[in-house]
Amino acid sequence: SKGKKVVITGVPGVGKTTVIDSSLEALKEEGVNYTSINFGTCMFEVACDQGIVNDRDEMRKLDQELQRALQKTAAQVIAKIQDNVIIDTHCTVSTPHGYLAGLPSWVLQELNPDIIVLVETDEDQILKRRLSDTSRTRDMEGYSTIKDHQRFNRYMAASYAMMTGCTVKIVKNLDFLLENAVGEMVALLR
Ligand code: AP5
Repeated sequence: SKGKKVVITGVPGVGKTTVIDSSLEALKEEGVNYTSINFGTCMFEVACDQGIVNDRDEMRKLDQELQRALQKTAAQVIAKIQDNVIIDTHCTVSTPHGYLAGLPSWVLQELNPDIIVLVETDEDQILKRRLSDTSRTRDMEGYSTIKDHQRFNRYMAASYAMMTGCTVKIVKNLDFLLENAVGEMVALLR
């Protein structure tokens, strides 16, 4: 039978990957298994094979056409998975030409998610987390830009729900309260 498909999103640095990893560990102990796929990693592997980027943070600066082609290939790969699957991705990607839909209609149709999760937290906490993560090349964005991005992501999630009939769940990942976020996520995925 077909597994559950859960798309997990949030602006860069909100801590989605951290919440996903801890949630999957907890679920495993209960005997609930998910395959976790990072959409950006799928895109990056294709982009590397094509020799068009050296770093995952270069992808959002590529031509729109190239980003779309990478999205499409990644979606086709992920759509083949029959298990319960978590897709770690973005509602929208902030590009030099504006917000790019992370799940444009042809990606959404391939994935056909049951739930879209928005991982959110206070903008000042996101700013701090980005500054302390030296492994990545983050865009220098201020508080209000991050706030706009989080707000826009909610609008996009609403339109994805209209297109697919999925539910939208907001999970807060506040400083010092990671276990609350994990608890909510586990309840959702169980
Ligand atoms: P991706 O790899 O998803 O990049 P990202 O958004 O920057 O994701 P990160 O994994 O760096 O951030 P995170 O939010 O998961 O935070 P983390 O857990 O590391 O995407 C890369 C690229 O792929 C994109 O730029 C785009 O080009 C492309 N892409 C992806 N999907 C796409 C799509 N659908 N369409 C088009 N392009 C797409 O945590 C961050 C920090 O916070 C850590 O230091 C952590 O310890 C800390 N932290 C986490 N939780 C807490 C807490 N509760 N309290 C305190 N600190 C915390």
